[in-house]
Amino acid sequence: MWDKNLKFQKNKSIAIFDSGFGGLFIMKEIIKVLPHEDVIYFGDNIRAPYGDRSEKEIIKHSLRIADFLNSLNIKVLILGCNTISACAYKSLKKSLKIDIFEIISPSVKKILKLNRKIGILATKATIFSKIYQRKILKYNKKMDLSFFSCPLFVSLVEKGVFDEKILEEAVRYYLKNIESKKIEIFFLGCTHYIFFKEILKKISNKKIIDSVLECVEEVKNNLKEKASFLNIPKYMFYTTKDKKEFKRIAEKILQMEDINVREKKNIIN
Ligand code: DGL
Repeated sequence: MWDKNLKFQKNKSIAIFDSGFGGLFIMKEIIKVLPHEDVIYFGDNIRAPYGDRSEKEIIKHSLRIADFLNSLNIKVLILGCNTISACAYKSLKKSLKIDIFEIISPSVKKILKLNRKIGILATKATIFSKIYQRKILKYNKKMDLSFFSCPLFVSLVEKGVFDEKILEEAVRYYLKNIESKKIEIFFLGCTHYIFFKEILKKISNKKIIDSVLECVEEVKNNLKEKASFLNIPKYMFYTTKDKKEFKRIAEKILQMEDINVREKKNIIN
């Protein structure tokens, strides 16, 4: 029998939220894996980086933005940000009645499969939350983990600095302090850091991993009957900063042209 509610769900959008441009790396894969879905992206660029903020602030901003997204006819919310996933997931889950996907669980699953000396690169707020240690050591107490924060990476992406030499310099700067730790594999525990994946690999000569594909796969598997098909997808972007600047940087990251961006400055209090 035809289920009207199901049809309604299929017409809804997938929403992705990040402090800024980092979640676009998730959106890029969502588009490939789920090509018929409408996607709404929200970047709180004016308040990025979240990684230097307190948990209280991150929860407050996340609740506000998630409420707005929830008012836009969405079927799921993806937290395209480790910092928001680490600090605000529980509060968001409590206050919203929609499916929310965070990025820490698929990351933890992936890290647990690697029995190596892992260097987790993440923001200060994510490291401070100790969420990776708690979730990983619960299953494997012997896992050798080290944590490093690279805040400059977030600033460079947010400013749209694409000059290869400057990006390489930033990577060398952080690697200098990390080298002595004899890391075997680097895990990117911040979506902004994905922008540096290839440069990090080239300079460190190490294996660099992230969990974007696993996160997207989880969303796909859970959508099931809510998935859209035969739909020509529409993509809408919101930023709390300047839309021209957002367009320039987002188009470069997504390798897309003519994206539709709206400014949502009134969400700031
Ligand atoms: N992209 C975010 C993450 O994955 C955080 C960047 C920021 O500090 O705002 O943690």
